[in-house]
Amino acid sequence: MNKLLVSLLLTMGVTGVANAAGDATAGQTKAAVCGACHSPDGNSVAPNFPKLAGQGERYLLKQMQDIKGGKRTVVEMTGLLNNVSDQDLADISAYFASQKGSIGQADPKLVARGEALFRGGNLEAGMPACTGCHAPTGAGNDLAGFPQLSGQHAQYVAKQLTDFREGNRTNDGDSMIMRSIAAKLSNKDIEAVSSYIQGLH
Ligand code: HEC
Ligand code: HEC
Repeated sequence: MNKLLVSLLLTMGVTGVANAAGDATAGQTKAAVCGACHSPDGNSVAPNFPKLAGQGERYLLKQMQDIKGGKRTVVEMTGLLNNVSDQDLADISAYFASQKGSIGQADPKLVARGEALFRGGNLEAGMPACTGCHAPTGAGNDLAGFPQLSGQHAQYVAKQLTDFREGNRTNDGDSMIMRSIAAKLSNKDIEAVSSYIQGLH
């Protein structure tokens, strides 16, 4: 059983890396058009445009494939990826993953509530801690498909959690991981945990 699991994980890991094998240098040129919103190094300035810098390579690739294929709707990017090849997507992912993500600041008034949720979850509601998948530092776990959250704009994070909760973002797989977690978050919870994430590192 253990042997099977290990070899399964190895196979997944190896093919996953092969699929995502991108060339960061080539990706920088191909990502020029993205810089208008996400900034050339991926540390976007506007709080509704997600930071891509330092995000996991596989996560980035999956999101772009989802956006291109219509599994995730990003109105601002409509049609933008239509003529971008799989190799280009892989190169662009490698480029942004290789950049250093910047960290923002949390609202001091919201830190206690945000940190409690992020690190402890909500036992009564049966909601697991975010740290279990996104790691205590918010670095995520790219091989497992868990995105980096640290330093992400609070406004963007809050929109994602609301979208998962309301069923407007549904690309979290058949297990509906994030939809079931977000269903247990109130608006106040979302505000607090998103602010906490913006300052997390
Ligand atoms: C006109 C602005 C705009 C441009 C240009 C743009 N994006 Fe985006 N992008 C967005 C917005 C807005 C979102 C988040 C939408 C939402 O709230 O779900 C997004 C989301 C993403 C995400 C998901 C991030 C995450 O953390 O899940 C990726 C990856 C991405 N964009 C890559 C790209 C790439 C690569 C390009 C260039 C080929 C590009 N974008 C060009 C506005 C833009
Ligand atoms: C069991 C694992 C797991 C737990 C626990 C978890 N997440 Fe996630 N989260 C995921 C996965 C997987 C995704 C990526 C879904 C996809 O591929 O689109 C994700 C995506 C997200 C995103 C979108 C990131 C982006 O860049 O668009 C946010 C925000 C998020 N999670 C916040 C949280 C918060 C806050 C908590 C705790 C309240 C939490 N997550 C708990 C697995 C988890």
